[in-house]
Amino acid sequence: MTDDFSPLFPFLEMVGGYAAARVLTTAGKIGLFTPPYKSISPEAFSTRHHVSERGIRLLINALVALGIFEKEDHAYIIKEEIRRLFERFPELRWDLIHHDHLYNVWERLEEGIRTGHSPNPPEEDLARYPESLEIFLRAMRAHTRFLAPEVMSLLKWEGIYHLLDIGGGGAGFALSLVQRFEALTVTLLDLPDATNLTKKIIADETGAKRIILVPRNAYTDPLPEGPFDRILISHLIHIYPAEDNQRLVEEAAYRLKPAGNLLLLDYFLDEEETGPREAVLFRLLMMIGTPRGDCFSLSAARKWLEHAGLTLEETFPLSRGNTLISARKP
Ligand SMILES: C[S@@+](CC[C@H](N)C(=O)[O-])C[C@H]1O[C@@H](n2cnc3c(N)ncnc32)[C@H](O)[C@@H]1O
Repeated sequence: MTDDFSPLFPFLEMVGGYAAARVLTTAGKIGLFTPPYKSISPEAFSTRHHVSERGIRLLINALVALGIFEKEDHAYIIKEEIRRLFERFPELRWDLIHHDHLYNVWERLEEGIRTGHSPNPPEEDLARYPESLEIFLRAMRAHTRFLAPEVMSLLKWEGIYHLLDIGGGGAGFALSLVQRFEALTVTLLDLPDATNLTKKIIADETGAKRIILVPRNAYTDPLPEGPFDRILISHLIHIYPAEDNQRLVEEAAYRLKPAGNLLLLDYFLDEEETGPREAVLFRLLMMIGTPRGDCFSLSAARKWLEHAGLTLEETFPLSRGNTLISARKP
C-alpha cells in the first residue's frame, strides 16, 4: 500500500502561497495590468518599461500558469475575464500595489510575534508615506466597491438625508452613497492628509459636491455637530485600542438625531477569536502594522454601544469576513 499524499498538497499550497501573490503584485507594480489591455511582446515591453526582457518573459509565463494571461504565438494577452475585472474595478491596480507594500509589513511578523507589538517600520516605509497614503486610499475603494452595494441593500435609506462617515478617506462609501441617493449629503471626516488626497480622488466624480470634507482627528477633535440621521464608522476602529473606540462610539452617539442609526463595519471576530479567517489574519497585520491597533469581538462592540446608550439592532455578515453592526439611539 502506498502512502496517500493528497492531504499534504493543500497544506503545501498554503505554505507557498506567497509566490503567486508576489507574481501578481509585482505584475501590478510593473504595469502589466495597466490599460490599454493589448497583446504584449516581452521585447517591446522591456524596451518601453526599462525592465529585463528575460525577467518580463518569465513573469508573464508565470501569469499564464496562474490563469491570468494567455499566450498567443510570441505575444501575451490578459485573459478576457480578468481584463473585464480590471475595467470594472479600476482600483484593483492600486490594491495590487498596496499589497506589495503590505508585504514589507508581513516581513516583520516574526518580530511582532516575539514582542507582541508593532516593530518600528523601516525608514524607507516612512519616507514614502505621502505616496503610499494615496495608494492606500485608492486601494480602499477596491474593497468598498463590493461592500457598499451590500450595505446599501441591507439597510433602509428612507429619511436618511445627512450621513457622517468617520474615517471615510478615499470616499468609497461616500461616492457610492451620493451617487445612489440624490437627496443625501455625506460629511466625510478624516485626518488632514487623507482629506486632501480624497479631495483630489473625488474631484471629477458625479455627486462629489454633496460630500463635505472635514479634516479632523476623530479621536482627539470634536466630531461635527450634526445631528446626523446615520453615522458610519468603516474600517477605522481596528487602528485604535478598545478604550479609544468606546469613547468614539459615545461621541458618535451624541451626534446622532433621536432614533438615529450608528453603523460599525469592520473585521469583527467571533467569540472564540478564531474566525472569520480574514479577520483573524487581518488582526495579525494590525498588531505588526499599527502602534495600537486590534480587531474586536462582536460582544466587545455590543458593550461600547450599550455604554453609549445605543441598542444593537442587527448584525450582518458581509463578504470576505466583514461584519456590519447596526445600532439605534432611543
Ligand atoms: C482602512 S481606511 C478605511 C477607509 C474607509 N472608511 C473605507 O471603509 O473604505 C481607515 C481610514 O481612517 C482614517 N483615520 C485613521 N485614523 C484616523 C483618525 N484618528 N481620525 C480620522 N480618521 C482617521 C485613515 O486616514 C483612513 O482614511
